[in-house]
Amino acid sequence: EKQGFKHFMLKEIHEQPGVVRASLDAYFNNFGESSESPINLGLPADLYNNLEQIQIVACGTSWHAALIGKYLIEQLAGISTQVHYASEYRYAPSPVTANTLIIGVTQSGETADTLAALAMEKERRQGKEPQYQGQLLGITNRSESSLGDMVPNIISTLAGIEIGVAATKTFTAQLMAFYALALDLAARRQTVSKDTLEKIINGLRQIPKEIEATLETQERLTEQLAHEFAETKDFIFVGRGINFPIALEGALKLKEISYIHAEGYPAGEMKHGPIALLDAKVPVVAIAIPGSVYEKVISNAQEAKARDSRLIGVTPVNDGEAAEIFNDLLPVSDVEELLSPILTVVPLQLLAYHIAARRGLDVDQPRNLAKSVTVE
Ligand code: F6R
Repeated sequence: EKQGFKHFMLKEIHEQPGVVRASLDAYFNNFGESSESPINLGLPADLYNNLEQIQIVACGTSWHAALIGKYLIEQLAGISTQVHYASEYRYAPSPVTANTLIIGVTQSGETADTLAALAMEKERRQGKEPQYQGQLLGITNRSESSLGDMVPNIISTLAGIEIGVAATKTFTAQLMAFYALALDLAARRQTVSKDTLEKIINGLRQIPKEIEATLETQERLTEQLAHEFAETKDFIFVGRGINFPIALEGALKLKEISYIHAEGYPAGEMKHGPIALLDAKVPVVAIAIPGSVYEKVISNAQEAKARDSRLIGVTPVNDGEAAEIFNDLLPVSDVEELLSPILTVVPLQLLAYHIAARRGLDVDQPRNLAKSVTVE
C-alpha cells in the first residue's frame, strides 16, 4: 500500500503534484464567453452576493491553510477576512454583519472545535437575530462527515485519503481550494483584470511539474541535512507575507513527527524578542522568495547570521546575497510569489520527514496525536 515508500507520509508528500492536477481539473474548468468566472466551485450564486466580510475557523495545519486563504482573498478579491483558531472562536465569536461568510476548514470534517464553532454560527443564524444571515461554507477532504451534515455548502478538497497523521497533501489540496475561491471571488467582483487572472491560472498549471522538480532535488538534500540535524534541540522557521504561514507549517511538521522544538515567526518579528534565542546551536530556516518581501527576509536572515545561527534558505536564488548568507540551500523553482507557498512547503515537509525518520520515530503515528481530534 505504501507503493515502495518507507512511510505513508513520504508517499503522500510525493502525491502532491497529482493533487494539484486533480484540483486544477475540478475547479478551473469554466472557461467560455458568457461565464462570470473561469472557476467552478459549484456554490450557489447567493453565496457570492454582497459579501462584506469573511471569518474562517480552523485548527492546526488547516488554520495555516486558512492564513494563506486570507492573504489570497484579501489581496485578490479585496474582502476583509479574519482567521480564528476554532477553539478560541467558539467562546469568543466575532461580531458579524448580515453579509459575513463563515468558512470552516477541516480536512477530516470531524474536528470537534471546528464543528462547535460552526454549530454556534449556525445557531446564530437560526435564532432571532436578523443580522446573522450570512452563509456557512465548509472546506473539507471528507464531504461525507459531520461537517458535511452540518453546513449547506462544501468545497471538496481532492487529496484522496491521507493516512499519515501529519497533514501534507491535504494541506496542498486546501491551498488549491483557497486559490480557486479567491480567484473566483476576484473574477466575479472584477477586482483583478482578465489578463492577471489568466496569468495566475496559467502559473497554477505549471505548479505540478515544479513540485515534481522540487521533490526530485530535495529528497537527497533534505536527507543530508536530516543527518546533521537529527540531534538538534531547537529550530526556528521564518517567512513573510504569503510565506509566513509556511514558516508556521514547517515548524508544526517538525514538532509533530520529530519531537524537536520548533517555532515559526514572521521574519520581521524576530527582533522583537525571539532573536534572543539564537546562537550557533539554533538553526534558522528562512523562506526567501523574490517579490514584495525578499530583501526584507534577506536582511532578517543577516541578523540571524550575526548571532551565529546556521541558516538554511528555501529559495530559488543561488547567487548574490542569498549564496553568501545561506549555509545551506533548499532550492525551489522560481514561480510568482503568490503561488510560491505550494512549492515552499514541500522541502519543509521533507525536512521534517527525514529528521523524524533518521531519529527512528514512528512517522505515520506520532505520539500523543490522532488523525481526527473529535474531543474538545
Ligand atoms: C497537522 C495536523 C493537525 C490538524 C488539525 C486539524 O499535521 O494534522 O494540526 O491539521 O488537527 O485537523 P482537521 O483539518 O481534520 O480539522
